Amino acid sequence: MASKVALVIGSVRKDSLNRKLARAMVGLAPAGMAIEELPIAHLPLYNPDQDESPPQAWTDFRGRVRAVDAVLFVTPEHNRSVPAALKNAIDIASRPYGQNAWDGKPAAVVSGSPGAIGGFGSNHHLRQSLVFLNMPALQQPEAYIGHVDKLFDAKGDLANEGTAKFLAGLLQAFDKFIAANRGNKN
Ligand code: FNR
Repeated sequence: MASKVALVIGSVRKDSLNRKLARAMVGLAPAGMAIEELPIAHLPLYNPDQDESPPQAWTDFRGRVRAVDAVLFVTPEHNRSVPAALKNAIDIASRPYGQNAWDGKPAAVVSGSPGAIGGFGSNHHLRQSLVFLNMPALQQPEAYIGHVDKLFDAKGDLANEGTAKFLAGLLQAFDKFIAANRGNKN
């Protein structure tokens, strides 16, 4: 079944390794899965005081989240947790209270780090939020991509066959997971 998947990248850095990883995943998606980035770097900091008269960027972002079937998160780890920009994007689309745009969207989480443990802390802190947001999360395969700085060639393309095979397999599992879980809103 065809699906529209939003790609949310947790890094706002120009030369982000996670962005390279995410770009490789776009190219590895199975037939019928369209993965498109939902940018987050421009979003003003969430403040409930502005719920009555929200910035246009929040409204547009919420609308774009509502329009997709599923969400693929590819994120670094900041201080053993989720980067602030990603947490801000999550908070924006979760509110105002009772209007959670993430509700019921199947999610997959990939974390990447130059370190050996591949952003495990970030990956699982994010999964904790997904429980509250009512986003069913793909359980297997888990994706903690360590030594991510060693995976790309000079052009920034993924140059590690094992990782490419692993990520392609993850996307195939996600494809089936989306078909089984789409539209399960509360
Ligand atoms: C980091 N980094 C990091 N790495 C890690 O494995 N665990 C961590 O807790 C942290 N903490 C952390 C905090 C902050 C504020 C920064 C800026 C960085 C290092 C991080 O993994 C590295 O900079 C990656 O390259 C970030 O991913 P992108 O931006 O290249 O996608």
